[in-house]
Formats: sequence, C-alpha cells, structure tokens
Amino acid sequence: MKTLSTLILTLLILFSISCTHEAIVQPIYTDTGSIIVDPPPNVKSDTVCFNTEILPLYTTYCSSPGCHDANSHEEGVILTTYAQIKSGITAKNPGRSPYYTIIGDDMPPKNSPKMTSDQIATILKWINQGALNTNCINSCDTTKFTYTNPIQALISTNCNGCHGVSPGSGNVYLGDYASAKAYISANQALFINAITHSTNLTPAQRMPPSNKMVDCQISQFEKWINAGYPQ
Ligand code: HEC
Repeated sequence: MKTLSTLILTLLILFSISCTHEAIVQPIYTDTGSIIVDPPPNVKSDTVCFNTEILPLYTTYCSSPGCHDANSHEEGVILTTYAQIKSGITAKNPGRSPYYTIIGDDMPPKNSPKMTSDQIATILKWINQGALNTNCINSCDTTKFTYTNPIQALISTNCNGCHGVSPGSGNVYLGDYASAKAYISANQALFINAITHSTNLTPAQRMPPSNKMVDCQISQFEKWINAGYPQ
C-alpha cells in the first residue's frame, strides 16, 4: 500500500513538472472557423498545428497527382482542405477515423513515399487533441536554418510525398541532404520562385502545389540557401 501511494505521488509530481513546460497559448478564433494558436516566441507549444503539421502530410502523401488530389480524386476521395480531411476523422477517436486507420501498409500505395512513424504519431496526437482547425501562422524560429533543423523536417513534411523517392515528380529528388543541395544549388532561382509561389511560374510549378508554406518556413529555406546549405 505504501509503495502504491509513493508511486502515485511520484507520478503526480512528474506530471505537474511536465505540465509547467507547456505553453498556455490563448487561441484566437477567426470568422473562417480556424483557430490561431501561434505560441509566443521561444516557447514550445504542445498544440498540433493543423496547417503546418497535418494538412501538408495529407496533401503531399495522399494527394500527389494521380491520387486523391482535386483533379484525380481516386474513389471520390479528395484530401486537400480541412473539411475534406475532417470528413474521415472522428475527434478524439482514432479507431473510428478511417483517414487515420488506413495509413499503413497499403496507403500510401506501394512504391510511393511513406509517412514516417513520427508523422503518423503527430496525426494521432492531433486527433486526440480534438482534430481542430488549428493554425500556426508565424511560429517558427528563423534563427535556426541548418539541414538537420529544420530543413530536413520541412522537406519531409511538405515535399517528400512527391519528391522523396527517386526520380521524384518532375525529376526533382529531394530525399537526402546531398541530392537536395545538388538540385537546389543548380536551380536556385527556380527553387525560390517555386516555394514563394511566384507568379513568374505557372501555377503547376508553385510548390507545394496545393498549399504554400507559411512565411517563416520559406524564410528558413532562404536563409539555409544563402548560408551555403549548412548541414
Ligand atoms: C503533391 C505533389 C508535390 C509536392 C507535395 C511537391 N511537389 Fe514539387 N513538383 C511536383 C510536380 C508534379 C512537379 C513538376 C511540375 C511541372 O513541371 O509542371 C514538381 C516540380 C518541382 C520543381 C521544379 C519546377 C520546374 O518548373 O521545373 C521544384 C523546384 C519543386 N517541385 C520543389 C518542391 C518543393 C521544395 C516542395 C516542398 C516544399 C515540393 N516541390 C512539393 C509535385 C509536388
């Protein structure tokens, strides 16, 4: 009995310690139904951002051309907006969320890039937090711009669904450091125009095709390029 109460007490203490490190972000509710949850600078929030963490996973791993994008919509499924993704998700109930449970051996299909276990875990966390339309507009740390942090994760989340398995869509392969550096240094202006959705390019050349990355992420890419691709 004594050991049990000690255990409970220890757990309670650990729990309260871990809580003090989480930011309390005051959400801002917008007219369009989205919730802005940008944490204050230098504070790590525990809230998953739908726009920067979840939407790109569905648009890049599930909506590559020929799959579930607006032009192809295989089996009537389109996964490029919050409403479309939410239609297959039950808040706080991953087991009753077909757009979560289908991710695995068969989806994305053979020979297509797979999501990482971290990315799948992020989707699970988002569902358990209520599967809300949470948005982070400007919460990245632009003093960080090496490949290890954050460029590799940005490419993985936003690009690898189409450019993560060689040769990659449009013959652009960005799946590892050497390949990304080689491609971007040979095509620097095109690359920047693509990620800034420049009107100098055709809509099909603006990357990622369905959703532009947020400004602070684009700025991290530009700083990484200008600094000579630090690893
Ligand atoms: C949903 C699939 C998809 C995603 C996600 C995607 N791309 Fe692409 N990308 C393509 C396709 C398809 C092409 C070929 C477009 C064309 O030639 O019209 C392409 C072409 C490109 C090009 C060459 C453009 C040109 O005109 O030659 C660059 C650069 C590029 N992508 C970078 C990126 C980056 C960086 C990301 C992530 C931030 C990304 N892409 C995400 C599908 C995708």
